[in-house]
Amino acid sequence: MKGAGLIPKSFIQDLLNRLDIVDVVERYVPLKKAGANFVACCPFHNEKSPSFTVSQSKQFYHCFGCGAHGTAIGFVMEHTGMGFVEAVEDLAKGIGVTVPQEASNVPQHKVAPDLYDLMQSATRYYREQLKITPRAIDYLKRRGLSGEVAARFGIGYAPDDWQNLKAAVPNYQDAALVETGMVIAGEEGKRYDRFRDRIMFPIVNVRGNVIGFGGRVLDKGEPKYLNSPETPLFEKGHELYGLFQAQKAIRAHQRVIVVEGYMDVVALAQNGVEYAVATLGTATTPFHVQKLLRLCDQVVFCFDGDRAGQKAAWRALENALPQLQDGKRLGFLFLPEEHDPDTYIREFGTEAFEHELDNSLPLSGYLLRELTSQVDLKTQEGRSALMQKAQPLLTAITAPTTALLLRKEVAALAGVTQAELEALWSIKPVAAPQRPAPPKSKRAAPAGGLRLMLRCLVMKPELVRELPKDFQAEGGEGAAIHALADWLNESADETSTAALIQHFQGSLHEAAFTVAQGEVMHLGEDFDIQAEFTGLLRKMQRESIESEMSALLAKGLGGMSQVERDRHEQLKQALQQLKAQPG
Ligand code: UTP
Ligand code: MN
Repeated sequence: MKGAGLIPKSFIQDLLNRLDIVDVVERYVPLKKAGANFVACCPFHNEKSPSFTVSQSKQFYHCFGCGAHGTAIGFVMEHTGMGFVEAVEDLAKGIGVTVPQEASNVPQHKVAPDLYDLMQSATRYYREQLKITPRAIDYLKRRGLSGEVAARFGIGYAPDDWQNLKAAVPNYQDAALVETGMVIAGEEGKRYDRFRDRIMFPIVNVRGNVIGFGGRVLDKGEPKYLNSPETPLFEKGHELYGLFQAQKAIRAHQRVIVVEGYMDVVALAQNGVEYAVATLGTATTPFHVQKLLRLCDQVVFCFDGDRAGQKAAWRALENALPQLQDGKRLGFLFLPEEHDPDTYIREFGTEAFEHELDNSLPLSGYLLRELTSQVDLKTQEGRSALMQKAQPLLTAITAPTTALLLRKEVAALAGVTQAELEALWSIKPVAAPQRPAPPKSKRAAPAGGLRLMLRCLVMKPELVRELPKDFQAEGGEGAAIHALADWLNESADETSTAALIQHFQGSLHEAAFTVAQGEVMHLGEDFDIQAEFTGLLRKMQRESIESEMSALLAKGLGGMSQVERDRHEQLKQALQQLKAQPG
């Protein structure tokens, strides 16, 4: 469960089953009944006519205007700015239940605060050590840092000993020290510190608690940076280095810069750019982007000028697409090859750096630049390749205006009309938000089979268990279906649409599920999900058998080996069986 921390998965499912999202939303936004659903003007963007839709039967909301969507928990987080745990506690309290702690062999209710305390003690200890280690102080000075900035980021030093932390905590044998990743349990019960002879950068969550560290070697050595492992306190894909310190400046400037390194964040702050954060040795996740867009209107990615930086920028773009919101700006700043933000601002100064920020390449420009550089638009093949490369990227965008403008540009570049492109990609016109439910038989709908299948699975996740073991599906929708199967296999719990949405919120599959959720809103209550699903599955199986058979037949009976002839016979029987089944 994303961000669930110590709350058991089953409790989240249970809570979602007990809540009524209509009650929850109504606490903040008055709803009107419209057909099977409830609607309102969207609280997350400005609009005159209501496109914010809440499904009571399926327990989720979806805005057809700005793409906001989620469960009751997600709504409270989004609307109040509460964190996941806080929102769960708030909702549980509202219906008079208490949030249990994860049952485990360690008594968690005691451990959690202890873990934070341990991290705090370690931080204090490393800072004291820095003060008495001239070699470490000199290193930081050489990198241009003042004492104030070092203090602002809680920078410290871990001495060159195996068991430094003995001096910092009451009991070096405490299992919690291993759990926080600060101590490594070796063979024969021997323990030693993870961090030795390193400059220590505490990683702080938005509540101000230290949850991990990055440690840099002073001289040359491998690895250059050693990071805390993932622990109950620290989930890398969710945290951003420096966010706690930068929050105020981000709100004040309505801008945040995402950089690659600890030193980049610190050096930028040293030079007056206080609104920078760093990913923690991982790619920028959709969750990161979502978190930052909640705080401000503009996110600029500024990665190193080298090849790795270019790759990181593209990954960031891909993961940002599902999170885009109309009216918010994402930019990319590419520094000269030999530079990173730290060296750049120290060499050219704050003004020059901010000037570069103001002129960063907008996401749309970057996307089109990359796509067109990969193809030859003078040839028909090149224009066709452009369309193919653009499709998964553009369809991942849920922000309607942004998506529309990009489709227009890609269509123009490919020499087709916008309508032709949209028909090819099965995109329905975005007009009229409250259209009547589509006709019951959806077999001939333009959307691909996988997309229709995903729609069924969103309504009834347990149907995934009916897929044959060797089921293979490709593309974004296929990946989402496989991820859903994995998730259900992991836990035998009962599940629901809301639990599914909650689980995949912020994941790579969110975009695929979101499209399906939007479509589900329009279906009538009498839509026969089971029949639709079975029909789709049969059709896919039939098509796959038929295509394998015709590939074999293309060789001619004489051209087939014995094995191939057997296979053909086997396929023929399977096909007859399929056709014999009712439905
Ligand atoms: P860089 O290698 O670009 O280092 O790594 P840097 O930030 O410029 O560091 P300085 O200026 O040499 O001190 C960027 C980020 O990648 C992660 C760290 O988060 C680092 O800040 N990283 C790098 C590691 O986790 N481990 C490594 O060994 C190297
Ligand atoms: Mn650097």
